[in-house]
Amino acid sequence: MVKNIQAIRGMNDILPDTSRYWVEIERVLRQITLQYGYQEIRLPLLEFTQLFARTIGEATDIVEKEMYTFLDRNGDSLTLRPEGTAGCIRAGIEHGLFYNKVQRLFYCGPMFRHERPQKGRYRQFHQFGVEAYGLAGPDIDAEMMLLAMRFWQELKIDHKVELQINTLGDADSRAKYREHLVKYFNDNQDMLDEDCKRRLLSNPLRILDSKNPALQDLIKSAPKIFDYLDSKAHAHFDGLCKILDQVKLPYVINPRLVRGLDYYCLTVFEWVTTDIGAQNTVCAGGHYDGLVAQMGGKATPAIGFALGLERLLLLVAENLTLPVLDTIYLVLLGDRAVTVGMGLAEKIRKNNNVGVIVNCGGGDLSAQLKRANKSEANMAAILGDAELDSEEILLKYLREDKPQQRIKIENIENFFITK
Ligand code: HAM
Repeated sequence: MVKNIQAIRGMNDILPDTSRYWVEIERVLRQITLQYGYQEIRLPLLEFTQLFARTIGEATDIVEKEMYTFLDRNGDSLTLRPEGTAGCIRAGIEHGLFYNKVQRLFYCGPMFRHERPQKGRYRQFHQFGVEAYGLAGPDIDAEMMLLAMRFWQELKIDHKVELQINTLGDADSRAKYREHLVKYFNDNQDMLDEDCKRRLLSNPLRILDSKNPALQDLIKSAPKIFDYLDSKAHAHFDGLCKILDQVKLPYVINPRLVRGLDYYCLTVFEWVTTDIGAQNTVCAGGHYDGLVAQMGGKATPAIGFALGLERLLLLVAENLTLPVLDTIYLVLLGDRAVTVGMGLAEKIRKNNNVGVIVNCGGGDLSAQLKRANKSEANMAAILGDAELDSEEILLKYLREDKPQQRIKIENIENFFITK
């Protein structure tokens, strides 16, 4: 027996009953983002591996163990993008998008990480991300947070998410902080678990991220980044808090928020929830002011965030009302009706607010009405020889208790426009 081929673990099909929610959520996100003056950028799924290693950081979980990397037929090492920021910078430098210009960009699409799949964590997942270049903040930081808040409000989940913010300072203050943090955890090495011992060598700030309950007291007493900030970083953070207070956007300062990618500086932020289990970060981002220059471009301040669409869907699903399109199922009885019906359907579809599903494949009246009932349509329009002779069409409501109607074929377009 031939064994059926199945999808790869952690890579999900999005079936028609769910894809409708995806389309609607993406529509809302796009519409709001465009309103803030961001423009869409579409980037390749594959990039040279070096791009991610150099931007995200060699010592991060993503680069160390989660990337889908392979040699292509030319022997080049390529990687399926694990996130969108690196590609966005690559494209911006390559096409001169950042040159003496402010750019507000957004993207939407699949990302790939070889993580252990669980609820809210997949190997192919989807991000909606925004990035702004050429603006130092803190006004742009606040804009990003307000923009995300608009998403949550529009999707009616603002009561389910909390904004957490922190600052990582500039490279110098972070280096100073890192030194003290390493000393502190080194002095307490016997208390650390294996994962944190590894992080102590590779990326000590990430120890602050550990969820191990046995380490929480140790982490709580660790040195705080705020004590190592220079005056510029302090002013930036205070400036952001002031704007957030002014616009009444609630936030929590979380000094342990450090992010898992290396490129961040100054403001970092996450929107977290308690509603979807362990994978509780819906949206995350921050400044990455050094990265454009590090990748060969002109020094350009930058900030962005990305939200996980799967996680958003878990939060949104029951609150979302999908737009309904009046849809007619066109029942065609006999060859004459088929010939006329195809053209008639085109005429009706010219009105964008009406959908028409034409019965293809024949069948008697009851078979076609059965199909109409199973379809998305809320009306059936019946066209047979009798209707053709009287130049009328018979309209039956499928989901409402309303009497059927006869409509003159020549008036059919107007009927749906004025309905
Ligand atoms: P990130 O925190 O790695 O940041 O991912 C952002 C969001 O993507 C997460 O908060 C989560 O919602 C979603 N996500 C990440 N991994 C998975 C997964 N395996 N399964 C499902 N959802 C996932 C970035 O990617 C940065 N590029 C964000 C950014 C943009 N920073 C500045 N600009």
